[in-house]
Amino acid sequence: MAGAFPTPAQLFDLSGQVALITGASRGLGWGMAQALAAAGADVVLVARGAEAVEARAAELRDAGLSAHALALDISGQHAAEQAVAAAQERFGQLDILLSNVAASVRKPVQELGEGEWQHVLTNGVTVGWRLARAAAPPMRQAGQGRMIFVSSINARIVRPEMAAYAAGKAALEGLVRSLAVELGPDRITANAIAPGYFLTDGNAPLRRQRPEFHDWIAGRTALGRWGMPDNLATAALYLASPASSFTTGSVLLVDGGITVKI
Ligand SMILES: NC(=O)c1ccc[n+]([C@@H]2O[C@H](COP(=O)([O-])OP(=O)(O)OC[C@H]3O[C@@H](n4cnc5c(N)ncnc54)[C@H](OP(=O)(O)O)[C@@H]3O)[C@@H](O)[C@H]2O)c1
Repeated sequence: MAGAFPTPAQLFDLSGQVALITGASRGLGWGMAQALAAAGADVVLVARGAEAVEARAAELRDAGLSAHALALDISGQHAAEQAVAAAQERFGQLDILLSNVAASVRKPVQELGEGEWQHVLTNGVTVGWRLARAAAPPMRQAGQGRMIFVSSINARIVRPEMAAYAAGKAALEGLVRSLAVELGPDRITANAIAPGYFLTDGNAPLRRQRPEFHDWIAGRTALGRWGMPDNLATAALYLASPASSFTTGSVLLVDGGITVKI
């Protein structure tokens, strides 16, 4: 039996697979893109800022990996189709979707405007649905696929002033369960990753405004620290890889234990 069991290298090998990663020029998306590229995937990196995303793709290519940059605002109505088409055009197929972009507006619930609510929900869940809708046909054609959506612990535990963000992440997890059920017969898995608190530009304004926030979060976390992007990248690699072939409809918490600590 021991000799028949696949090696870790085989279980996490993404050679010949094409991955589309949104929000890939910084933070968690960049960490996950590096992990998937290092495992052998051809990666398509999406972000709005052309210079930054092109520099990231070049960085991967300089390391001998395969990467293509796509400067695109993924919240545009037809951007999801454009991104999937670009991946197919550049690499001929699409096997892995990693939907990572979100937006937030921090305000008390009664002060949130209609436009702000819509903006956060569009980025938080509608974009994920559009990407799944666009990615399903090429995955069906390939006979398999992996869809991964970046949720948050804020889908289940919250602080004040994050109503739209929390609602979007909770809706995203509902979408993941529906995709798992609908696309499972086509051997397409759909899972979410729920990060706890990670040191990224995304929460830098909050850390600047409230210097005590950093230590408060570290103290609330079982492991006593904030996460670093590579701590999340390994979870994305698992969900993208052959190792997770029977995992679908799940939400993988990567939160240093913040949701289990009283
Ligand atoms: N960091 C945390 O502690 C944490 C915790 C829980 C969940 N999350 C989730 O993790 C995900 C990533 O967060 P992060 O902290 O890594 O964010 P970040 O550091 O702010 O990076 C965001 C990335 O997304 C790109 N981006 C933003 N809006 C975009 C758009 N409309 N179209 C295309 N690209 C866009 C940015 O590049 P451009 O600005 O050039 O477009 C950048 O590459 C989000 O879904 C967030 O909700 C983060």
